Amino acid sequence: MNQIERVLEAIETIAVPNRVVVLTGAGISAESGVPTFRGAGGLWKNYRPEELATPEAFARDPRLVWEWYEWRRELIRGVSPNDAHCALAWFEREIEGRCGFSLVTQNVDGLHRRSGSREPIELHGNIFRARCVREGTGIELPGPLAELPPRCGCGSLLRPDIVWFGEPVPLIGDAMSEASRADVMLVIGTSGAVYPAAGLVSLVRGGLTIEINPDATPLTDAFSASLRSSATAATRPILEALAGRIGACR
Ligand SMILES: NC(=O)c1ccc[n+]([C@@H]2O[C@H](COP(=O)([O-])OP(=O)(O)OC[C@H]3O[C@@H](n4cnc5c(N)ncnc54)[C@H](O)[C@@H]3O)[C@@H](O)[C@H]2O)c1
Ligand SMILES: [Zn+2]
Repeated sequence: MNQIERVLEAIETIAVPNRVVVLTGAGISAESGVPTFRGAGGLWKNYRPEELATPEAFARDPRLVWEWYEWRRELIRGVSPNDAHCALAWFEREIEGRCGFSLVTQNVDGLHRRSGSREPIELHGNIFRARCVREGTGIELPGPLAELPPRCGCGSLLRPDIVWFGEPVPLIGDAMSEASRADVMLVIGTSGAVYPAAGLVSLVRGGLTIEINPDATPLTDAFSASLRSSATAATRPILEALAGRIGACR
């Protein structure tokens, strides 16, 4: 029996879940062609993301930071959601009205929404939004920018509406409350290196926790089951088994 088959068998034996929570990281978008920060292709002009995704970097050189975001925005516009994103959107519709569900993502690429997920909790913001540094007003900026750095109507700089390293995560309370009520938590493609998101799995009390990642992470030992597998190979079979379990007894 392989690793996935063992997890599918374990799902058959759990109590019917009342709440399934999924946490995704950059790894779920890797097979769509969006580089992860810590994998190959994560560098831009020899800068590490930790040198650019910070308030200090933006204060020092807003144009440089915006050039990096423009590069990423263009790259993301050119890719499509993959089967792991689509399976999550399918699962949400499939179990609606029968089981609580929430999707928490650290990704800023918007691919969950594009694949049909209704209300992902985008912990770290969205790369297609910006906000005024003075007024805080948000604005959608889907297309390429004519001028860098872009400015608000009031004349102040716009910044990407992204939670940078060292900044508070406004939506973490929502995510913690979801995790603490979960009977099943699935964590897909996250390195477990970026807190507070990495702490969410420890809030699940007595439930089934499953990690999907081709590599072991600092969190691997904290899961009931950890699959050395890519997001597109493991996500759909696991969600189909969970949907079957949820449907089976109602
Ligand atoms: N797509 C995006 O929006 C994007 C991309 C890069 C970074 N980020 C940001 O970077 C921060 C980094 O944290 P992180 O943990 O999300 O990413 P990370 O780059 O630190 O780690 C990515 C993880 O994905 C795993 N992975 C690689 N290929 C995979 C695959 N095919 N299937 C499943 N897993 C795979 C890697 O082993 C690694 O553990 C986040 O805050 C996020 O906002 C976002
Ligand atoms: Zn303004």
